Amino acid sequence: MDVLSVASEVYPLVKTGGLADVAGALPGALAAHDVSMRTLVPGYPQVLSALKKGRQVAEFDDLFGGPAQLIAGRAEGLDLIVIAAPHLYERPGGIYVNELGKDWTDNWARFAALGWVAAELAKGLVDGYEPRIIHAHDWQGAMAAAYVAFGGDSQTQVVVTIHNLAFQGQFGAEVFPHLRLPDAAFTMHGVEYYGGVGFLKAGLQCAHAITTVSPTYAREIRTPEYGMGLEGLLNQRGFDLHGILNGIDTDAWNPQTDTALAAGYGASTISKRGVNKLALAQRFGLDQSDGPLFGIVSRLTWQKGIDLVADNVDWLVTLGGQLAVLGSGEPQLEAALSEAAARHPGRVGFVSAYDEELSHLIQGGADIIFVPSRFEPCGLTQLYGLRYGAVPLVSRVGGLADTVIDANTAAVEAGVATGVQFSPVESGALGEAIMRAMNLYGQPAVWSRMQRKGMKTDVSWNRSAEKYAGLYTSLLRQE
Ligand code: ADP
Ligand code: GLC
Repeated sequence: MDVLSVASEVYPLVKTGGLADVAGALPGALAAHDVSMRTLVPGYPQVLSALKKGRQVAEFDDLFGGPAQLIAGRAEGLDLIVIAAPHLYERPGGIYVNELGKDWTDNWARFAALGWVAAELAKGLVDGYEPRIIHAHDWQGAMAAAYVAFGGDSQTQVVVTIHNLAFQGQFGAEVFPHLRLPDAAFTMHGVEYYGGVGFLKAGLQCAHAITTVSPTYAREIRTPEYGMGLEGLLNQRGFDLHGILNGIDTDAWNPQTDTALAAGYGASTISKRGVNKLALAQRFGLDQSDGPLFGIVSRLTWQKGIDLVADNVDWLVTLGGQLAVLGSGEPQLEAALSEAAARHPGRVGFVSAYDEELSHLIQGGADIIFVPSRFEPCGLTQLYGLRYGAVPLVSRVGGLADTVIDANTAAVEAGVATGVQFSPVESGALGEAIMRAMNLYGQPAVWSRMQRKGMKTDVSWNRSAEKYAGLYTSLLRQE
């Protein structure tokens, strides 16, 4: 079965968050289920330079404002089709934002082009390649569903996956005439959304199936609290909405072989983590300590509850904990973390950066991986934590609720606990959870049992890849 994945980022070529990890891991995971997945990605400079021996398979005189080529090739084990369109993708700055952190003003064209090319490929643009299924990710890929619905091949089935409803790709009505869609598409049954154009909305409206990345988030987004205005549409489409948990790449994330660690280890050699804890403390300028070291690897945004961490830093230190934060994002959150580090030398460290290697060392050295998100579609950092024996302390939302088993008395007695959950997502509840985690840490037998249980949890793609393969198969049958 040929499936065309449509993604605006893919690990290890280009990544701003978990979407890249998922888009990068799915093709390998699906291969075991007889799915051959190629990934359509924008030709950002880092993607073009990674592409080995690419060959041109199509050409456009005018792809949303300039000439472009489609290049097929392999990079880092991925089968790619890359849109080489210098006017859209070859520029300095971020993949979504300019050097000042502002969205590129032509993002509508950059990602409409991505969806449009996907629909053309499904129509047979390239000889010998006719994927019957398009799997589009987030708002950047979602327009593929609209292009298929309004002028694609009627045999093509489109799956749209929501990784984060907070980003919807909303644009003014003035872009509509440039989208290459018939006038009939500008209605509430098409791309129109509150008088403008909504890319994710269009995808959710037109897709044959919708998935999101955990069962709990699939339920949450049908409510006003989490639906970000799209709950009505998601309820209408409830029958076609599925929650399929993310897995992780267990080769890239393997504490036995991870070269970013000071010492490799497994579930039976967990004490070697101490070497990594030392290396981590050094890297963050922390004192050597017997207390629990809390680690955070995160985008620093409201979603991730980083302000709640800032509220609780003094408390965490008073109780004897230490904190190492790796992340970048909103200036006021960066400032709050820098101030906390200055207030608590040797106890709190903050590295403002995006650093893949260091993120591994945190998972391999921290005692606790801290994820207090206000909402979390799935979350990958707690899965890395489970695999690395860094006990997750998480809010009880979305995928965090689905992947961590709270250490309540019954779960501890039954030996099934893998972490600590808290709810509601507020400073007070977080403070109590920090204390609960400290108490558990103070009971070495209980703690190491939790670590080992976490390390044995199946966080691979196996089960979920099977679910995606099953979904594709059922779509082909329905067609
Ligand atoms: P989201 O996609 O919402 O940011 P996820 O937990 O799904 O959240 O995925 C985040 C991914 O990005 C993980 O792979 C995490 O390790 C990585 N990450 C986030 N911030 C950083 C950072 N500052 N340095 C390195 N990796 C980071
Ligand atoms: C999004 C979500 C995150 C999820 C990731 C991959 O960025 O915020 O929870 O794990 O996508 O699906």
